Amino acid sequence: MTKAADAGVAAGRDRWPAGAAWMEGSYCPVEEAKISVLDLGLTRSDCTYDVVHVWRGRFYRLDAHLDRFSASMARLRLDPGLDRAGIEAIVHGCVRRAGLREAYVSMTCTRGRTAVGSRDLRTATNTFHCFAIPFVWISTPDQQASGASLWISQVTRIPPQSVDPAVKNYHWLDLDMALLDAYDHGAQLVVLRDLTGAITEGPGFNVFAYVDGRWLTPAAGTLEGITRRSVIELASEVGQPLEQGLLTAGDLRRAAEVLITSTAGGIMPVTVVDGRPVGTGTPGPLTAQLRDRYWARHEDPQYSTPVRYN
Ligand SMILES: Cc1ncc(COP(=O)(O)O)c(C=O)c1O
Repeated sequence: MTKAADAGVAAGRDRWPAGAAWMEGSYCPVEEAKISVLDLGLTRSDCTYDVVHVWRGRFYRLDAHLDRFSASMARLRLDPGLDRAGIEAIVHGCVRRAGLREAYVSMTCTRGRTAVGSRDLRTATNTFHCFAIPFVWISTPDQQASGASLWISQVTRIPPQSVDPAVKNYHWLDLDMALLDAYDHGAQLVVLRDLTGAITEGPGFNVFAYVDGRWLTPAAGTLEGITRRSVIELASEVGQPLEQGLLTAGDLRRAAEVLITSTAGGIMPVTVVDGRPVGTGTPGPLTAQLRDRYWARHEDPQYSTPVRYN
């Protein structure tokens, strides 16, 4: 980074150490960003969002996240009132004001409030907000050294016919209830099955299992994770076979390696499934190879963009 950018990072950190937000046309400390109790994003989960991260002062695949966010808004007939360049400028602005070199950056478009006394959705004014906070890990680097424990839940994932999982959404009651249940079983993470019993995804992550000589990940019924996409590309680069198809609970239980993928932490090893060790019970070499390449990509201009700190 340049000296001016360094100074920008330091100034932001001193001012708003917990993070910065953009709401209703201006920036503020993240603690001060508040949403109306009447916003349908809150009362109906009628909203969509996306999360991109910053690592060592660079966004990872910002274009892919902006593409997905814009497709999600179009699908839900939401209008943020800003064009892509406007959203991009705000995303940079939040990181700059928070002075973060490693950040979790979330952008949300909500249905907003309907006209007074009306329930007609068409009278609602959609809203956009964004915030940047310190980087969030589903599994911290320390936890990744030994691997996480995963529980296969009895809670069924909301069917894709009801809520399209490809549109990133806040319909998290199935995911949250399943996670609380997993904690009760001594596990750190949880994955949910669909109505047919096929594995789908977990709260904030996609899942992969190495079975019968190839990585297997659900072909459908999940968010099309940007980190998932990275794993598919990286596996091909390093010659690890990979298939998108049907992943079952049995596959997860007999896999040689299991990993989860998320913007919140990258590629993270799972070493326990339903209380039993995965393979040798330690993070496997295939996962490690993918993870090293994933983090190396964060320096590659093909996949990363420097934050505009000044
Ligand atoms: C339900 C769900 N699945 C998967 C993911 C992983 O997606 P990405 O790799 O784009 O972060 C997320 C991210 O938050 C998610 O919410």
